Amino acid sequence: MNFRGVDILNGYQFTNQELNHIMNTAAQYETRVKSGEVIHDLEGMVVASLFFEPSTRTRLSFEAAINRIGAKCISMADASASSAAKGETMLDTIKTVDGYVDVIVMRHPVKGSAKEAADAAVHPVINGGDGAGQHPTQALLDIYTMRKEKGHIGGQTITFLGDLKYGRTVHSLGYFMQQFGNKMIFASPEELKMPENITADLRSKGADITETTDVKAALSESDFVYVTRVQRERFPSIEAYERCKGSYIVNNELLKYAKKDITILHPLPRVDEIATEVDDYKGAAYFRQAHNGMYLRMALLGLVTGRA
Ligand code: NCD
Repeated sequence: MNFRGVDILNGYQFTNQELNHIMNTAAQYETRVKSGEVIHDLEGMVVASLFFEPSTRTRLSFEAAINRIGAKCISMADASASSAAKGETMLDTIKTVDGYVDVIVMRHPVKGSAKEAADAAVHPVINGGDGAGQHPTQALLDIYTMRKEKGHIGGQTITFLGDLKYGRTVHSLGYFMQQFGNKMIFASPEELKMPENITADLRSKGADITETTDVKAALSESDFVYVTRVQRERFPSIEAYERCKGSYIVNNELLKYAKKDITILHPLPRVDEIATEVDDYKGAAYFRQAHNGMYLRMALLGLVTGRA
């Protein structure tokens, strides 16, 4: 399998064989890092980390991955401190940085921007989130986590809970769930339903999807619940956000209705959608999930440079 030069842009670009290869590569990096090995796979390479939108985990786990895999990192963590603040377009920034580095990691508030950047750049572009579009590296670390938590992936049921309209992580993860034959339950307020085009696309590929507002019933039959934050920054008005915020809160009381041994996932950051009391629950996997992101991102860097 050859990923050299491949852009990582969305959740529907991979075959199952490729998904397994990415997860297996991440597992190898995890073993190597945990054994204390100092890894030189990307020695001599430079990777750009360009974040035109706020980030904690995606940026820092990518930058940790860049360092741990032996590359050097140049970083734009705050677009307001770059020429974007002078009115430079994203594409002009990309064309410039493309001449400095071997791989570009980018997050940008505009849906479709990662594809535009990839078309303009010679080097591989990895999408760290494009507005309310896609977030494939998150979804890849999500399936890596699911496999680690349960020992396998496939033939399970997952509830996506919360803001499915603007939450880009579930827009990518839905495709992987369909590919692995996992049943999906979409539980959201009416205003925050999964975009119809995505639901229809998933169904046309054979996905088993139920849409509901009954969270207790959904959790009672789910092996996983994937909780998302209501994406305040993407709402057209503050009133629309106020109507939706706090719609669902996962707490110990709600978990009484959940299937035994349910695994709780969340891309983080959380606001109030998972009570902190849940952190002690053994199936609460969201911080382990965040840690897994570093190994998965090492795998992607190794693969797209042909060095893994
Ligand atoms: C998510 C994102 O940026 O889309 N976070 C992440 O990458 N870990 C989810 C969110 O911001 O709610």
